[in-house]
Amino acid sequence: MCGIVGYIGKQKASPILLEGLKRLEYRGYDSAGMAIADGENNFLVKAVGRVANLENKIGEKKILGTVGIAHTRWATHGKPSDQNSHPHQDCTGKISLVHNGIIENYRELKKELQAKGHKFKSETDSEVAAHLIEEFNKKMNFETAVLETLKKIKGTYGLAIINREEPDKIIVARNGSPLVIGVGAGEYVIASDVSAIIRHTPQVIYLDDGEVAVIKKDGHQIKTINNEAKNKKITKLDWDLERAEKQGYPHFMLKEIFDQPASVEDAIRGRMLLAEGLAKLGGLQTVSEKLRKIEKIIIVSCGTSYHAGLVGEYMIEEYAGIPVEVEYASEFRYRKPIINSRTAVIAISQSGETADTLAAIREAKEKGALTLGIVNVVGSTIARETDAGVYNHAGPEIGVASTKAFTSQLSILVLLTLTLGRQRDMSLVTGQRIIKELRRIPKLIQSILDEKDQIKKIAKKYHGYEDFLYLGRKYNFPIAFEGALKIKEISYVHAEGYATGEMKHGPIALIDKNFPSVFLAPKDSVYEKTISGMQEIKARGGKIIAIATKGDKEIAKIADDVIYIPKTLEMLTPLLAVVPLQLLAYYVGTAKGFDVDKPRNLAKSVTVE
Ligand code: AGP
Repeated sequence: MCGIVGYIGKQKASPILLEGLKRLEYRGYDSAGMAIADGENNFLVKAVGRVANLENKIGEKKILGTVGIAHTRWATHGKPSDQNSHPHQDCTGKISLVHNGIIENYRELKKELQAKGHKFKSETDSEVAAHLIEEFNKKMNFETAVLETLKKIKGTYGLAIINREEPDKIIVARNGSPLVIGVGAGEYVIASDVSAIIRHTPQVIYLDDGEVAVIKKDGHQIKTINNEAKNKKITKLDWDLERAEKQGYPHFMLKEIFDQPASVEDAIRGRMLLAEGLAKLGGLQTVSEKLRKIEKIIIVSCGTSYHAGLVGEYMIEEYAGIPVEVEYASEFRYRKPIINSRTAVIAISQSGETADTLAAIREAKEKGALTLGIVNVVGSTIARETDAGVYNHAGPEIGVASTKAFTSQLSILVLLTLTLGRQRDMSLVTGQRIIKELRRIPKLIQSILDEKDQIKKIAKKYHGYEDFLYLGRKYNFPIAFEGALKIKEISYVHAEGYATGEMKHGPIALIDKNFPSVFLAPKDSVYEKTISGMQEIKARGGKIIAIATKGDKEIAKIADDVIYIPKTLEMLTPLLAVVPLQLLAYYVGTAKGFDVDKPRNLAKSVTVE
């Protein structure tokens, strides 16, 4: 969960590295550092805290040098400190490297190296790699020394390595942590993800696990760690920098909430055939016949993506009649899941790099399941390791709290439900009804966003409370969880999502005037039961914020505050009901003065287990 940037080319490396780190800060931001080594100019600087601290430390220094690497850290071994910040060097200082991942056998490697006289400066696992390269480099050339080092390392890495004595190259390697190579004209920008590359070039190469690239100004070579040459295609990105910027919003999170009419549109555009009542998911074409035979689905994911899976369970079971289990990816691996060739295991992941989800998919593959991905980041590991899948096309999601990726995931789950349902007993009419209504969703989301000021007022009214209960039934039961997660992770208040029907089995004991509840209460098939749940809370003096269907006047007699959403198909209400909860969380978090894009203790992509 760190950010890596490298540059080799004609320009001065330092400003490019700094700017790249800023784009990657959401991946980790407890310390940062940079190393430049192009033969004449050698430079190493590290700083605890945000990239801005590193920039201040560099100050007015004129840093020449056209080859460099940089890193923004999310500590896994060794507390945030100058010594523990990357880049790490060998004893001589000629080799510098930055690392994202975990070297699981670093203790024994460190002991072996210390026995050979190596002196370590940090408590990190990463520093071991620098000394290992130094040790091998005594007996072989630099590139081979790197390959031999990678063979000794157990665990995950995204690495960028430079050598003062061979300043014409950067060596990068990947195993389990993402690394992307931006191919420019006479220059390369390497980074953990594309948001640090797109302003320089749209041409990128995604490294795969076990691959190493030797990059020079005028060309690159890619090989396996066993030195077999690899031919990799260059992907042309359709994300421009503009899109990855905040576009004038105070926070990425707010921009991404307001992106949702467009991102849902992008998720469904060109993927529905109204006349035939079908979805057209190009990424599933190759497995279409296998999908027809699927008898069970297991969805594996984490966090917000897990909540999307819970909604998908209701959709697929109701409209395609296939049994669905939704599993926390981190738990899936410890179960003995019943999997066979008629089981589809679907990974939902915005980043496509979540270690738990990736491990679950690898396990499912081993057990013979058909593996599918619903992923946002093009070319990410989960996207490449699943048998087939569907990209969200939601564009970069920078805010740590996932918002537009969620509604995009739900949109794709609707299309997947349509695919599976129409392969089975779903009628043409039902398919067409779903398509017609799904097409309206972007506009309906926009109509909710237009009410942002009312939601902001409600947030101001409740931002002092320290506890919230979020309650929902059926399709909106997962939205209760998602709403609670949003406010938890960016406002640091205690919030629990619960099935409304579960309230009387315990949680209602929490309710008093200081413990407000947020009810998902659209006019759906369980509306009456929801109303009686609200009355139970009211009777105990609990305050209520209700998410209700436009025109429902009754609900205003019970709830203290009502946020209305437009009427739509029951299976599509989650796409609308979540939007007020995203805004509520955002406005509560900002009212409390927190940096909602970079909440404490969290990183955007959890690439360690
Ligand atoms: C959601 O707001 C969180 N940032 C987090 O729970 C996230 O959804 C989870 O880590 C899964 O990430 P992924 O979708 O990239 O796999």
